[in-house]
Amino acid sequence: MDLTSTPRKIPRTIPRTDALVSPQSALLAGTDQSSSPIIRAPIVLGVMASGSGSNFEAIAEAISKGVLNARIAVVIYNNPQAKVAQRAQRLGIPAVLLDHRQFSSRESLDDAIAAQLMEYQVNWVIMAGWMRRVTERLLSAFPRRILNIHPSLLPSFPGIRSVEQALNAGVKITGCSVHFVELVIDSGPIIMQAAVPVAPDDTVETLQARIQVQEHRIFPAAIALAAQQVSHPTAS
Ligand code: GRF
Repeated sequence: MDLTSTPRKIPRTIPRTDALVSPQSALLAGTDQSSSPIIRAPIVLGVMASGSGSNFEAIAEAISKGVLNARIAVVIYNNPQAKVAQRAQRLGIPAVLLDHRQFSSRESLDDAIAAQLMEYQVNWVIMAGWMRRVTERLLSAFPRRILNIHPSLLPSFPGIRSVEQALNAGVKITGCSVHFVELVIDSGPIIMQAAVPVAPDDTVETLQARIQVQEHRIFPAAIALAAQQVSHPTAS
């Protein structure tokens, strides 16, 4: 991944409707604590994935358990071999292949992605293992509406091979982060993180597996927090 792009000057404040509040108050958002509940329409998610799609499935599961008030309208994937397509098929969710090799530029790919997401009337874009750098075209189509999950405690170890980077650095604690997407890779405001201790005998595979358990727990909760939808994240 290219880490060299120039940072956009984006105000660090989050628009009123996206205001981050304490997890407790976010979990209570949508519920009038004294009397009747406020009924909110489910948010409409578009998931972008390049690989296995275990995070996509964890989000779908959180929705089906009623802990995230959302609906996944479409999955967009860029790699014909991505297992996420089979998961989507099994769950009856439309999956659209937009193979980046068929596009002449990052911008034209992002235009096609934005057009698909709009066709499905998506209002939150969820990057769940999307392995392409995004451009201003997608960001401006969904301002402050794109979230990403990253397998490290950002700002440590951005970019690729983060688990390997953490192991090589000898850190004792690593983890995962859900953040708003900005032009500079893995740089946007952080919504939620989970810490994972590094064991002395960890390999990239064993550590990655424990990080993924935490990813599956915090990603739905972070979406709920960002969109202020009701959530009851389970303890690990
Ligand atoms: C996750 O570990 C995520 O942190 C990274 O890509 C991986 C995707 O895994 N961005 P999956 O496809 O959701 O299983």
